[in-house]
Amino acid sequence: MTLDAQIRQALKMVKDPFTQKDILSSGIAQGLKVVENGKIFLVLEVDTMYLQKGKELKDSIEARLKGIDGVREVNIALTASRKPQAQNSNQKPLPHVKHCVAIASGKGGVGKSTVTVNLACALQQKGLAIGILDADVYGPSLPRLLGTSQKPTSEDGKTMSPIIAYGIKSMSMGYMLKEGAPAIWRGPMAQQALQQMLHQTNWGELDFLLIDLPPGTGDIHLSLAQSVLLSGAIIVSTPQDLALIDARRGLDMFLKVKVPVLGLVENMSYFMCPHCSGRSDIFDTGGVRAEAEKIGLPLLAEIPLHMDIREASEKGTPLIHRNPDSPESLICNQLASVLINTLASQ
Ligand SMILES: Nc1ncnc2c1ncn2[C@@H]1O[C@H](COP(=O)(O)OP(=O)(O)O)[C@@H](O)[C@H]1O
Ligand SMILES: [Mg+2]
Repeated sequence: MTLDAQIRQALKMVKDPFTQKDILSSGIAQGLKVVENGKIFLVLEVDTMYLQKGKELKDSIEARLKGIDGVREVNIALTASRKPQAQNSNQKPLPHVKHCVAIASGKGGVGKSTVTVNLACALQQKGLAIGILDADVYGPSLPRLLGTSQKPTSEDGKTMSPIIAYGIKSMSMGYMLKEGAPAIWRGPMAQQALQQMLHQTNWGELDFLLIDLPPGTGDIHLSLAQSVLLSGAIIVSTPQDLALIDARRGLDMFLKVKVPVLGLVENMSYFMCPHCSGRSDIFDTGGVRAEAEKIGLPLLAEIPLHMDIREASEKGTPLIHRNPDSPESLICNQLASVLINTLASQ
């Protein structure tokens, strides 16, 4: 076998961690050049968000190629692209929506909906046009968090008008169900409900549509990621180990569907006492930071556990409106700025 054929064969044995195909067929390895004196040149193109995985892949390819007789030098250039890549023809950006961003978490109760609403308010206050889609069809929480129980109307019988609260357009199953009524959906119905809310809501022009996902990594997540081109996902976790393990699962799911994970948010990071304003690290603060470093993703924000955040949610007045100058509101404002900057380069 020629050296060239041996190299190709070796590369065919390496799996692309993003698509599970071999790296030559998946397109991640490009521009293979084998020079006569045994020098190899190769370009590996991975999403900026996954440079860490890319580095591991580069090392393993290098080791494999160096094991071939006749190979004298291996030059692999790791390049980063940040654009989300459509996997199938159904994955299109939503018309008139610049960025769809999913907010995800491995498990429930970590504050994903709370973070979504406060982030949305912070973005809106920066003058951007914002929408929120409550994709948690089983446990919608937007009506409570935004303090509204209006019912969506339809002018043309085909599309629904979103509910507008605090200058934010929103859609949730909670607007359509009676309060406290359980949503008894079976899988396909839940997915259909989500697709309708996504595609048949009259969102108009939006800078960001934040999608508050249900916890976990189920069918809803896949059906969403396959039907719309997401600019990225943010994973919310609390610092405890268990929440982190679930967050990691969420990360792997987005990896498989090639949605860039923009970063992690640590919620309930530390406790801020409402009486003395003292800080207590109840949980192992920094767990998410350490995890973010390990997987090579940015930590976008550390939000404390604070009475005001819960009370604001309960009263239906997002913290940013209730107490705009509080340190917690400023953290949400920073998160909004980081998100804008991250996506500006897409
Ligand atoms: N940083 C925080 N400080 C205090 N309470 C919080 C914080 N984040 C969320 N909560 C409260 O925790 C509960 C769960 O939050 P929620 O946003 O509904 O979680 P999820 O959407 O992940 O299930 C709510 O009662 C919410 O008010
Ligand atoms: Mg929720």
